[in-house]
Amino acid sequence: MKSFLFGCFKSQLPLKTPKKKIRDSTKNSGGSGFQRLSLSEFSSTPGSPLSLSANDISNSLLGSNLHIFTLQELQKITNNFSSSNFLGEGGFGAVHKGFIDDKMKPGLKAQPIAVKRLDLEGLQGHREWLAEVILLGQLRHPNLVKLIGYCCEDEHRVLVYEYMPRGSLENHLFRKYGAALPWGARMKIALGAAKGLAFLHDSEKPVIYRDFKTSNILLDADYTTKLSDFGLAKDGPEGDETHVSTRVMGTHGYAAPEYVMTGHLTAMSDVYSFGVVLLEILTGRRAVDKSRGPREHNLVEWARPQLNNPRKLDYIIDPRLDGQYSSKGAQKIAALAYQCLSHHPKPRPSMSNVVKILESLQNFNDMPIAPFVYIVPVETVKKELEKKEPEQKKENKDENRQTQRQNGQRHRIRTPRAKTGTVYTESNVRTHLKSRLSPDQKENQNKENQIKDESI
Ligand SMILES: Nc1ncnc2c1ncn2[C@@H]1O[C@H](COP(=O)(O)OP(=O)(O)OP(=O)(O)O)[C@@H](O)[C@H]1O
Ligand SMILES: [Mg+2]
Repeated sequence: MKSFLFGCFKSQLPLKTPKKKIRDSTKNSGGSGFQRLSLSEFSSTPGSPLSLSANDISNSLLGSNLHIFTLQELQKITNNFSSSNFLGEGGFGAVHKGFIDDKMKPGLKAQPIAVKRLDLEGLQGHREWLAEVILLGQLRHPNLVKLIGYCCEDEHRVLVYEYMPRGSLENHLFRKYGAALPWGARMKIALGAAKGLAFLHDSEKPVIYRDFKTSNILLDADYTTKLSDFGLAKDGPEGDETHVSTRVMGTHGYAAPEYVMTGHLTAMSDVYSFGVVLLEILTGRRAVDKSRGPREHNLVEWARPQLNNPRKLDYIIDPRLDGQYSSKGAQKIAALAYQCLSHHPKPRPSMSNVVKILESLQNFNDMPIAPFVYIVPVETVKKELEKKEPEQKKENKDENRQTQRQNGQRHRIRTPRAKTGTVYTESNVRTHLKSRLSPDQKENQNKENQIKDESI
């Protein structure tokens, strides 16, 4: 029972651009059953898998704790899928935020949720929905998004997930405005995603994820990473088999070259895609970016030759980090990405090895002092000043001017008239604090820094 959900095809499809996944458009291509589930139940169901009811599925997933929602319930939860609840849209439909109270379903606590409504487009859309329900209904891991339930009413196919407050890594890494994702968060995200993939690969019945990319990596408030979208996931090879033959599906820019060329799928295809995401994390560039010059369209082609040269590395690292990264960590990440992106699958590391390497890179602290900027809201400063007597205001102004002079204008203080508020930089604060340390304290601090450096 190897491919109930996805048939085996020798032909190839050209990869499509992100957001438009490559879909298997061949109807009724399924084989006998999906391995992880006792799929005999499904395959023995008369007619196509489309005829499966929510009850058929829930009977087969007994013990999975999935809740079955009605469309009416989901409409209520999402304010009728209103635009104000809209979170994003992918190749298979829109995602809306909702909130369930503790009275909605027995045993389900009050919580925010994300509701993905599939745009069915025939059998394939249904297969992907089913794969997600079956896999996430059975696999539980801290680095996989939790599926809370589903709706399978008439032609409607909906998935209900735990809500991930920071959305996808794609939103964070490539957004034009707002603060850049800090180096430490990037390392934590890479490790969490690697653990999720390693869990799938090392399961008793291994699963190949097949669609690893930044938009499928969701982030919790503390940057805990959770993989989502298992619609293209596939059982790994069994016994003596070295690969699974499939139609080429996935997202352009992330798929491994041997898989694109031959349709032979192995866990190493995921490792390649992981290498692409590592590069995106390192460079802040998209896997495919047509807005750049022709030589820079494809991230792997552009960056890979520069990964083994520490001097060239500075040139490709995300400029939005503004130098705030660990050089040693960046070199190791570059070397790891290089290995994952090997043209041939054999030299690529297993995901459990990737996890080990990333674990060792977590608390690298050979970072330049961050230029921390604290902006005091203008209103706060105004209120503070208004509380004080006019003479006191004058005194404050004089004092401020003096402080500015003492610090050589580096500790900038702006008056409430300035639109952006008051700015304090961390380096100024540190310089200020350092000048107050006794000689003994200074020596201790230097020693501490030395120890940290050696332990890396
Ligand atoms: N559980 C969730 N919590 C919060 N936001 C989510 C959740 N799931 C999805 N999203 C948001 O919805 C967006 C769309 O997700 P979706 O998986 O449908 O599409 P995609 O990953 O962008 O593209 P693709 O169809 O190629 O997977 C995501 O980018 C993310 O911002
Ligand atoms: Mg997705």
